[in-house]
Amino acid sequence: MTRTLIAGGATGIGAAAALAFVAEGHDVVVCDVNAEGLDRLTAQSEGLAGRVATLELDLMPVDAAARAVAFAADVLGGIDCLFVNAAVLASARLEDWTAEMWDHSMALNLRLPFLLTQAALPHLRASANASVIFTSSTGALRGHAGMPAYHASKAGLLGLVRSLTDELSPAGIRVNALLPGWVDTPFNNAFWDHQADPEAVRRQIDNGIPMRRHGTASEVAGSILYLASESARYVTGTSLVVDGGFTAV
Ligand SMILES: NC(=O)c1ccc[n+]([C@@H]2O[C@H](COP(=O)([O-])OP(=O)(O)OC[C@H]3O[C@@H](n4cnc5c(N)ncnc54)[C@H](O)[C@@H]3O)[C@@H](O)[C@H]2O)c1
Repeated sequence: MTRTLIAGGATGIGAAAALAFVAEGHDVVVCDVNAEGLDRLTAQSEGLAGRVATLELDLMPVDAAARAVAFAADVLGGIDCLFVNAAVLASARLEDWTAEMWDHSMALNLRLPFLLTQAALPHLRASANASVIFTSSTGALRGHAGMPAYHASKAGLLGLVRSLTDELSPAGIRVNALLPGWVDTPFNNAFWDHQADPEAVRRQIDNGIPMRRHGTASEVAGSILYLASESARYVTGTSLVVDGGFTAV
């Protein structure tokens, strides 16, 4: 059994991953600021083989990492997989960006994965199949105007993966990044809200994806289970792109 802490999983990819873990008999703790989403997730998990425990928590403050890890280790009796998935997507014209907006994005998207890994380290060291997974994005490889902090933070995660891989591999702790492409979740709502003609923009985006459509959260979840599993025991320091071919062309 893989005991997993999911940081940010009340909706979207994190929730789909939680349900996929639980369906396969693994126990999961999900920390998220969205209490309603956590309740929905708990209800959806009923009857499945594993257990979901949830903690309503804003992961932005510095002390949130220690609180999330303490709760998860207590409930699960240890942590084998740390899956850091929460992020924020802020968009503005370059001249309208402030230092506060930049710091806000970086605190969640890049500092949190670092702090959670630090906090979870004693538990990961004690695990026979320890792994850390960060949700980066194909936005680490490509850029859109107006979202400098998002792209910089998601690219920064790839550097963090490499540094941690060098430091933690001798201890048997694997570290990998997941890079989803366009996935249908509430995450992109702010992006769609800013489009004059969202349907036309969506058609244009889908035409640029070889599979000609967005992915679903459950289509991404399988890759997270794989990275956490024994099947991936020699897979570390890498990026797994799940994007319907978006970045291949
Ligand atoms: N949807 C996409 O197209 C897409 C593409 C590439 C990467 N991603 C990445 O996937 C990850 C998950 O996003 P998603 O698409 O599933 O969207 P989502 O909005 O459904 O999931 C994000 C989760 O993080 C939680 N969260 C946000 N801020 C938080 C905070 N301060 N404290 C605690 N929890 C917080 C949200 O409540 C939500 O449950 C993100 O890292 C995102 O950057 C998404």
